[in-house]
Amino acid sequence: MAVDVLLGLQWGDEGKGKIVDYLANQYQIVGRFQGGPNAGHTLYINGKKIVLHTIPSGIFHEHLVNVIGNGVVIDPVTLMKEITDLEAGGHEVRSRLRVAKKAHLILPTHKLLDIASELSKGEEKIGSTLRGIGPCYMDKTGRNGLRIGDILSSDFENKYKSLTDKHLRLLKQYPEANYDLKPEEKIWFEAIDQIRKLNLIDAEYYVNERLNAGDYILAEGAQGMMLDIDFGTYPFVTSSNTISSGVCSGLGVPPTSVRHVIGVSKAYCTRVGSGPFPSELLDEEGQKLRIAGNEFGSTTGRPRRCGWLDIPQLKYATMITGTTHIAITKLDVLNTFETISVAEKYKVGNEATEQLPYDITEGVKEVVNSNHQGWMQDISVNSYDLLPDAVRNYITYLEKKLSLPITYISTGPGRDELIVR
Ligand code: GDP
Ligand code: IMO
Ligand code: MG
Repeated sequence: MAVDVLLGLQWGDEGKGKIVDYLANQYQIVGRFQGGPNAGHTLYINGKKIVLHTIPSGIFHEHLVNVIGNGVVIDPVTLMKEITDLEAGGHEVRSRLRVAKKAHLILPTHKLLDIASELSKGEEKIGSTLRGIGPCYMDKTGRNGLRIGDILSSDFENKYKSLTDKHLRLLKQYPEANYDLKPEEKIWFEAIDQIRKLNLIDAEYYVNERLNAGDYILAEGAQGMMLDIDFGTYPFVTSSNTISSGVCSGLGVPPTSVRHVIGVSKAYCTRVGSGPFPSELLDEEGQKLRIAGNEFGSTTGRPRRCGWLDIPQLKYATMITGTTHIAITKLDVLNTFETISVAEKYKVGNEATEQLPYDITEGVKEVVNSNHQGWMQDISVNSYDLLPDAVRNYITYLEKKLSLPITYISTGPGRDELIVR
């Protein structure tokens, strides 16, 4: 029995959902431990594209229980829409889903506060998904939040009103905020009625009982390490701990139960939203990556900023997360690049370093790239040995640089387009 962790090593959208869906067969439980509907995890099931926002990516496996942990923030409307859309597509959801009573609720006013806060920041905006994530976690840590368990209390409407009143007072500070709350509240309460009928559990007891009974759990991260509230590119981050420690606080499992940490990285780099991105390509090559990789956000549709893989950033991410195995995704996107570059070092002052400075925007003036020969061919094969030499050289180079095994190589969005070593 053990918990394995799967998380993003970059700025999100690394292809976590696809890898979780592939690995799910090896586990009895898949659990989300942080984030909320800011996440968009894309899976192809029977050739059909499905994007999950709150539901764990193990949902398409019959034998599996999927837990939405206490560390997640839940928008009832988004969650119920996700469930009903999946059911309309013929998928079984409710019997496979458990929701932690200690997970926090995103209120309609959290979304309004998110929008107002971003508007007030102007050029300095975070580039939030505007799903109410930041304001909801602020209420959690400010000890004002409402939790899933509260919807079972007879006093719930009063609790809702008192928190909403507080938010409305705050919104008065933002003169540009313009909203009509009533219709939002109506659909929110309708969704709450539906959520009451789901399997709401004391998830910390459930997962620990299952662990003690010998089960294996896969903890599915959302966002990526560089969006972590403590170690990411603050303040351009999300509001939760996306790193391995988030699993213990977000699911209630002890650190001693954690076995492997699978870190997912694209074969290049992307970021959606504002903030530092040292290896970003603002030229035609960046545009080529965006088109080849179809780099448009799964949640908001925004074009993703693109750049080369960044070794100092990845080393930092594997250090902080304790990564034991790497999954490289979207390698096929590089198929038409004659030369593949990698940011090997940052120029900080007059020195070339592999260490991230405290202030990346101010500190990193330039990156030092190395160049690698591209393979200029299709790589849809199912075994590592069948990959072209240039691909294997690139993988060996990365393994050496990161001192970690690259165990999974994804060569396309489909479930089976994956080489496991
Ligand atoms: P997540 O948030 O980490 O689960 O990633 P997203 O789903 O937001 O973004 C990853 C995108 O890349 C999705 O559109 C996936 O279908 C797609 N994808 C995943 N792996 C591969 C791959 O190996 N090759 C290609 N071409 N696309 C991939
Ligand atoms: P998945 O799980 C990529 C980014 C937003 C913004 C910042 C803060 O699909 O990888 P928030 O809405 O949390 O207040 O936004 O974080 N962001 C993501 N970027 N993938 C995600 O999730 C993201 N979730 C949030 O773009 O820059
Ligand atoms: Mg995503």
